[in-house]
Amino acid sequence: MASRVSEVAVVGAGYVGLVTGASLARIGHRVTCVDEDGDRVAWLREGKMPFYEPGLEEMVARGTGAGRLSFTEDLDAAVGRADVAFVAVGTPQGDDGAADLTNVSAVARGIGRALARSGRRARPLVVANKSTVPVGSGDYVSALVREGAEEAGDAGAAGEARFGVASNPEFLREGSAVYDSLFPDRIVVGAEEAWVVEAMRALYAPVIEQNFPVEMDPRPSVTVPFVVTDLASAEMIKYAANAFLATKVSFVNEISDLCELTGADVGSVATGIGLDGRIGPRFLNAGIGWGGSCLPKDVSALRAVAREHRHDTKLLDAAVAVNERRRDLAVSKLRDGLATLEGRRVALLGLAFKPNTDDLREAPSLGIAAELLSLGAEVVGYDPVAAKAAAHEAPGLRAVFDPYEALAGAHAAVVVTEWEEVRNLDLRRAASLMREPKLLVDGRNAFAPDDARGAGLLYRGFGRG
Ligand code: UDX
Repeated sequence: MASRVSEVAVVGAGYVGLVTGASLARIGHRVTCVDEDGDRVAWLREGKMPFYEPGLEEMVARGTGAGRLSFTEDLDAAVGRADVAFVAVGTPQGDDGAADLTNVSAVARGIGRALARSGRRARPLVVANKSTVPVGSGDYVSALVREGAEEAGDAGAAGEARFGVASNPEFLREGSAVYDSLFPDRIVVGAEEAWVVEAMRALYAPVIEQNFPVEMDPRPSVTVPFVVTDLASAEMIKYAANAFLATKVSFVNEISDLCELTGADVGSVATGIGLDGRIGPRFLNAGIGWGGSCLPKDVSALRAVAREHRHDTKLLDAAVAVNERRRDLAVSKLRDGLATLEGRRVALLGLAFKPNTDDLREAPSLGIAAELLSLGAEVVGYDPVAAKAAAHEAPGLRAVFDPYEALAGAHAAVVVTEWEEVRNLDLRRAASLMREPKLLVDGRNAFAPDDARGAGLLYRGFGRG
């Protein structure tokens, strides 16, 4: 492997930063992850992960073990030796729906200051932004790095030749982030200067060429497309991708409602349309709808950008409205099957916003639990990893780590998140533990209706005739 080893600083050891840092170390670079949270740095040095993501702990251990991955609070030192400094901090949703850039601004300034203090002259620095920022922020980051350098008393340090900005949006899916970081569908780099593009291409060369040691079988053998754009387009690609995915799911959910009214089956319809290469089979699972840390936030931020430009986003508004109705639909299916929710016990199966993560952000389970509790139901939630956190987030919810404990004595159960543990439930055992009418509302169409009915359950899916 003849690829060049880069010195990398990743600022922000959160979800995106940690996966990015560990994967760059995995492909051979020397990476320092910087975080201002000293406790987090101490934890990471001990090999403890601040959140659950399959395979991440092993990838971090491998990087630290090989001496290619380290953790620090010292931004100056990490930036001082870096060829590329990633900005990977949160851009939470502000009150107006727009992305809050407080963290990005602080880090960009900090990088500018560090660049100035390092006094380096020979090697220029690429400041690569992985945080999801409003379109047009690349220039803003540039201005802030320059400001930081000036604050540190070295205006010259931030001259054009000393640093360049790239937008390098993140497409990691929670639950499969390690895989996605090593085998992405594409890498997008937006930049205004050719040397910045080439530095990023060199950094990602092992991934682009799929040329790094991997014990994976079968190993994808394609080269990964490296898409070069201007800064604004790269920033827009991130929003447009997530908005499209959200809209695709809302689309199939609307079709699902029509299937229910007309006797069609949304699963068959999804198969039939998904085989059209122009549509594609993924993101056509109907049910309770989309949640998580990215889709809701990014759709909302894109709508905020549109508002700023006094532009109507009719399609995105509709995608959100359709999604909000999904939770209500789950509750009305329960109400229809149980006559009343007052005094009824309902088991929520799966609480995290999707399988293989402990993330509860915008998780449908929380809204459904709150609604059921307000209607007088008793709610017991099961999740293999997020149970404790969910009980904290939804006061009144009793959370357990065993699905059968949640089902015992329940009048109804809702499949909210299709964990393997939920998909593999023994439905006969579930039915034997539940109380009449033993209603199963399958919010992810995870079970074959005949199997559920055969086991003695009253089955209600979404869009299944
Ligand atoms: C998403 C994007 O996929 C990823 O590229 C981006 O970087 C971050 O946002 P993530 O939030 O981890 O990733 O979850 P994803 O797997 O995309 O699912 C999003 C939501 O849509 C989940 O709530 C999921 O349950 C829902 N979904 C997905 C459906 O309801 N139906 C589907 O067919 C697919």
